Amino acid sequence: MNADRTNADKKLTRRALLVGVGVAGGAGAMYAAMGALGLAPSQQQKDFAPPQRSDFALTGRAAAKVVILGAGVAGLASAYELGKAGYDCTVLEASDHVGGRNRTLRAGDRLTELDGETQVATFSEGTYFNAGPARIAQWMVTLDYCRELRVPVELFVNNNSNAYVFNSGMLAPVRFRTARADMYGYVAELLAKATASGALDKRLTSGDKANLLDFLGQFGAIGSDGSYTGSPRRGFQVYPATGPGTPLSGPPPMSDVLGYGLGRALSFDLDYEQAMPMFQPVGGMDKIVEALAREVGDDRIRMGAKVTKITNLPDGVEVAYTGGSIKADYCVAALPPHLLVKIPCNLDPKVRAALAIPVPASAGKLGLEYRRRWWELEDRIYGGITETDLDLQRLWYPSYGFHGTHGLMLGYYNIGSDADTYAKLTHGRRLARALEQGERIHGPKYRQDLTASVSVAWRRQPHIEGAWAGWRNYDANFELLRHPAGRVYFAGDWMSYLVAWQAGAFESARAAVTQLHQRVLKGT
Ligand code: PHE
Repeated sequence: MNADRTNADKKLTRRALLVGVGVAGGAGAMYAAMGALGLAPSQQQKDFAPPQRSDFALTGRAAAKVVILGAGVAGLASAYELGKAGYDCTVLEASDHVGGRNRTLRAGDRLTELDGETQVATFSEGTYFNAGPARIAQWMVTLDYCRELRVPVELFVNNNSNAYVFNSGMLAPVRFRTARADMYGYVAELLAKATASGALDKRLTSGDKANLLDFLGQFGAIGSDGSYTGSPRRGFQVYPATGPGTPLSGPPPMSDVLGYGLGRALSFDLDYEQAMPMFQPVGGMDKIVEALAREVGDDRIRMGAKVTKITNLPDGVEVAYTGGSIKADYCVAALPPHLLVKIPCNLDPKVRAALAIPVPASAGKLGLEYRRRWWELEDRIYGGITETDLDLQRLWYPSYGFHGTHGLMLGYYNIGSDADTYAKLTHGRRLARALEQGERIHGPKYRQDLTASVSVAWRRQPHIEGAWAGWRNYDANFELLRHPAGRVYFAGDWMSYLVAWQAGAFESARAAVTQLHQRVLKGT
């Protein structure tokens, strides 16, 4: 078939089908048509049915007793969902706070690291620092829990054209909008010129070429000769007002822009996990775990209870912990796998081997409180992220408290070996290093008006010892742990395909309690 035709048909078909069917057959028919095209939102509906008290009515069975290891998101969500059916849940938590990595620090909070250094947050009233999870994608089940638990959410700004990119190939930080305009411009120019010169004739018909050039003209804001010479997309030195504004100088030569190394910075928010809009709970991420703990009941959560032994019995499970021991019908183990594997137990050696596989990762964050929101006042940056290839990796500007007198930004959020570099230092030296680097982006004001700071190194957090733990492959070991080991079920973001997201913890908790409940209903 003539390829020109196919292309024109495709353009027409999608639109015509959706719009046309919508007119003729109503919204229902349009939805069905969208489904056939893989566009319907049906997949977005979660088919989870929480355990309910009424489930027991016909079976004549009673809700069982369940011991849950860990009061992080997975443990609390397990207790919350089982509680809906009247299960008798007890949650054992080794630390002195609920939430695990869902940790929000405010004035007076203490953060202790494994080597013993303790920081005390001296933030001012109303300031909070989400030291762990801080952003939620709109398709994630985490938002459904916020809705159900009445935790108000607000927008989290995950990209900002007015924030900066600062890589070693640059002499000075460049605004995202400028970097993107120049990179897209030159990429469009190269492709347009290659197309026009016939370099792509083996791949493209004349119709394809016309369509591609049409696209590139708009994508890169290139001229009719295919050259990129800059555009207002780059931004201005002085923005238009009663006058036309003063353009930025530039653009720099193509070779300079290619040397910026913009691939990661210009593509991270295309990720399905990172695309805007994203959300955060109003007042701090720990509003989620506070609400869960309230629903579960404080009396059901034992703090300072570190698990020391797990024993599967023929008719139940026994868990010993610092300060006591508890016998239950079932157990949901919602601890990090690298800590779980160290606990003496009588679980199958294959299960223990599987628990040893997920690799704990490093990440660190530094919260900096300033008495002046200079990023808004001087840089006109309202939320979002500056990406760098320095070892601080990125700066985050706050998505709350706009126009307030003070505010908290992240002086680093780094992952991997850069996080290890900072983790080795005392807080004082982390701060000094981060300020030195941040100053290269924001100048001397970066040191002025700083009032408080706290840093977290997740590999050094007691009872957690990792930012997250991931599988290199989702293999037979992962599959093994999806099933109970005797009477022990496993939950946590590491038991999902959403490692490093609270959504993974919620989804895995749902999977575990669903299996557990089905077993109880069957009476096996
Ligand atoms: N969820 C974490 C974050 O958004 C970690 C993560 C980063 C997960 C990037 C996936 C991709 O920062």
